[in-house]
Amino acid sequence: MSAADLGRVAVLMGGNSAEREVSLRSGAAVTAALQSVGADVVAIDIQGHAIHQLTNENFDLAFIAMHGRGGEDGTIQGVLEWLNKPYTGSGVMASALAMDKWRTKLIWQAAGLPTPKAFLLDSSSDWKQVIAELNCDAIVKPAREGSSIGMRKVHDAAELQASYEFASGYDALVLAEQWIQGGEFTVAIVDGEALPPIQLKTTHAFYDYEAKYQANDTQYLLPCGLDVEKEAELKALAKRAFDVLGCQGWARIDVMQHSDGSFWLLEANTAPGMTDHSLVPMAARAAGIEFPQLVVKLLAEAKGRVSE
Ligand SMILES: Nc1ncnc2c1ncn2[C@@H]1O[C@H](COP(=O)(O)OP(=O)(O)OP(=O)(O)O)[C@@H](O)[C@H]1O
Ligand SMILES: [Mg+2]
Repeated sequence: MSAADLGRVAVLMGGNSAEREVSLRSGAAVTAALQSVGADVVAIDIQGHAIHQLTNENFDLAFIAMHGRGGEDGTIQGVLEWLNKPYTGSGVMASALAMDKWRTKLIWQAAGLPTPKAFLLDSSSDWKQVIAELNCDAIVKPAREGSSIGMRKVHDAAELQASYEFASGYDALVLAEQWIQGGEFTVAIVDGEALPPIQLKTTHAFYDYEAKYQANDTQYLLPCGLDVEKEAELKALAKRAFDVLGCQGWARIDVMQHSDGSFWLLEANTAPGMTDHSLVPMAARAAGIEFPQLVVKLLAEAKGRVSE
């Protein structure tokens, strides 16, 4: 499908989540890419009354370049469903599920997929018992945040409690997860197909906000350094993780590899970063798909899906 066949594309960006700034960068890159291929495009910074903004704008389909709550959690997808406008990525159910790291893990566990042991925390948690169950090596995360916001690595009961309090400033739902010491990988799924995995190497304790967006010593290995068999295993696991959640279109699955070689699923991102330096565009490029082509491909899939 060529850009002209897409009709008028609305690029939805911004929103009110903690990842607003990242989303504005994704949205700007997607908009520029669409302009570069001659598409008819309108960029919309979603703020305040999203329903009002979307009903007032004339468009045929939407590229969702919003990250985090409000844009990646099924709510904007629900509005677009009611407006009968096709949109990129997962539907309401899979978006909502994937936004919630705790419930994502429950689904993966039920399907027999490997994901690190974790506990939900609340103000009355038994900190000593939880940290002991996690072998004194854990990471505390808000369940519905992204970009490593609100996360801390912990080793004892006092750190666990303090990190719970820190994380609960971002979300009422907070989990403590077993730390996996080893390599970190991310796998982009586009059009139902796993692209070449990327290995991430950071000098930080983990791939935190600064390592993601500011540091210049974060390394991206592509090819990822796994042997052919292990790479195929990783891609198949990511695809299965995508399918089990009911994802559609595209997503990015984050995976740790334990030093014993086993893979552990961390989370699924249903509206991954789309700046020129983001991971999905990087993987796509390795598969011979340039950024503007990737954007058109995602939109074409979205458009084709509804008219099936
Ligand atoms: N169980 C774990 N063991 C080791 N490192 C972890 C673990 N969980 C998370 N991390 C580290 O923290 C980072 C952020 O975690 P995660 O991917 O779960 O959250 P996120 O903030 O939603 O990420 P994204 O920006 O991809 O949306 C990971 O990229 C990894 O470096
Ligand atoms: Mg992640």
